[in-house]
Amino acid sequence: TILIIDFGSQVTQLIARRVREAGVYCEIAPFQSADEAFRRIAPKAVILSGSPHSTVDIGSPRAPDAVFSADIPVLGICYGEQTMCAQLGGKVEGGHHREFGRAFLEIQDDCALFDGVWAKGTRHQVWMSHGDRVTSLPPGFRVVGTSTGAPFAAIADEARKFYAVQFHPEVVHTPDGARLLQNFVQHIAGLHSDWTMAAYREQAIEAIRNKVGKGKVICALSGGVDSSVAALLAHEAIGDQLTCILVDHGLMRKNEAADVVAMFRQHYNLPLILVDASDRFISALEGESDPEKKRKTIGRLFIEVFEEEAKKLGGADFLVQGTLYPDVIESVSFTGATSSTIKSHHNVGGLPERMKMKLIEPLRELFKDEVRLLGKELGLPDSFIGRHPFPGPGLAIRCPGGVTRDKLEILREADAIYLDEIRKAGLYDAIWQAFAVLLPVQTVGVMGDGRTYEFVCALRAVTSVDGMTADFYHYDMDFLGRAATRIINEVKGINRVVYDVTSKPPGTIEWE
Ligand code: XMP
Repeated sequence: TILIIDFGSQVTQLIARRVREAGVYCEIAPFQSADEAFRRIAPKAVILSGSPHSTVDIGSPRAPDAVFSADIPVLGICYGEQTMCAQLGGKVEGGHHREFGRAFLEIQDDCALFDGVWAKGTRHQVWMSHGDRVTSLPPGFRVVGTSTGAPFAAIADEARKFYAVQFHPEVVHTPDGARLLQNFVQHIAGLHSDWTMAAYREQAIEAIRNKVGKGKVICALSGGVDSSVAALLAHEAIGDQLTCILVDHGLMRKNEAADVVAMFRQHYNLPLILVDASDRFISALEGESDPEKKRKTIGRLFIEVFEEEAKKLGGADFLVQGTLYPDVIESVSFTGATSSTIKSHHNVGGLPERMKMKLIEPLRELFKDEVRLLGKELGLPDSFIGRHPFPGPGLAIRCPGGVTRDKLEILREADAIYLDEIRKAGLYDAIWQAFAVLLPVQTVGVMGDGRTYEFVCALRAVTSVDGMTADFYHYDMDFLGRAATRIINEVKGINRVVYDVTSKPPGTIEWE
């Protein structure tokens, strides 16, 4: 095991991810409980993370002293380097040499960290993000790399196997960074590359078992990859102590609820209740055209319906949620700044407090692509794993203005045809998310020599890495023509199709 001591950096999970990619198991401990974790885990090596703190401030966090006297390799990253130096007899200066973003590291000397990656005398892009810098080294250390802003950008005490870098090897903007971490983990710490998603699965299952005991557990299954993987893990852990509830709010894509239930019933023998609450949701939405009010209504009803179903089961002690790591970082900004509410995202957030349930979040440490790997490991069909994201409030936010049953039906058909064309063209996996939107606008057309006066359908497709920023997908016009023709010919109620060429920002991916 590698122990990563987290001093509050936003990218600590990326360090963990890189260690996992190097095939080695790691645990993250916040600095407040690092001492206890260090004794409990007895790690083979330690990595000290970055931090928004400054080592020169009184009371700023430190690594447990035991870390440096245990005769194990230690790697300090950014703040980790600074605290390592401060704790071992070097000096750190605050403030004046800020370096943010791309920088270049000059390799001054060979070092085990750089083996097979960077040679003496070469220069490489790294990513910096620091305000303080080391100004004098602790005894035993030598400089192996420098940058304009950091004369001690990479240092090593090879006798003690202490290494430290001012830049962030864990981020993709340090292109060779993953290999440096791999060197640390595999060569310097000598750990075997034998950790896999299969091992993660075992550990997650064990952790769920320990937490739940004989308790009762429920899971809100949406059919999305996150909730599906979380549910499957929990099911493997505790079997029929888990019940999944799929609330069909009538705002799903064509055949979606039935497909999800069929997939689960075919491949897994897990207790799954399908609740058809579509009338309730759609009646509540009728006459409501304000996007935020629509979202709130859906969120509230979802909680009500879910709660009623849970009561029928005699209540539950735990709720399984497919929260991913990016959801965690987005919600806790270390700058303390509150971001403005662009949209009230719908999830089952209000439930645990209301129902006094504890949360189980087995994917909290993972990134989306890792969840997909885990899904594969759990035997989820590829068609499920690669699905485009779908928002909780579903088609309601793709019908700007008021929602009616008829409009939803029109939209569902158009959306299904559009996705069918995307699949036929082999574009599904190249697109991050694609969907149709039914505009509350009617236009005049001519079909079969007669005048029509029907709705406009907008098509949207974006590429993105994380949904935070996005570009519109650059289709060729023939494809768009084909999709438009089919939609207009096959869907009664639509006589015009347009394509949305807005990126995010300034647009959002969804229209509401
Ligand atoms: P926006 O429209 O904010 O969407 O650019 C970013 C991503 O989030 C999805 N989305 C949601 N997902 N509940 C969800 O689970 C929601 O309320 C919600 N609203 C938007 C959206 O589909 C896109 O993938």
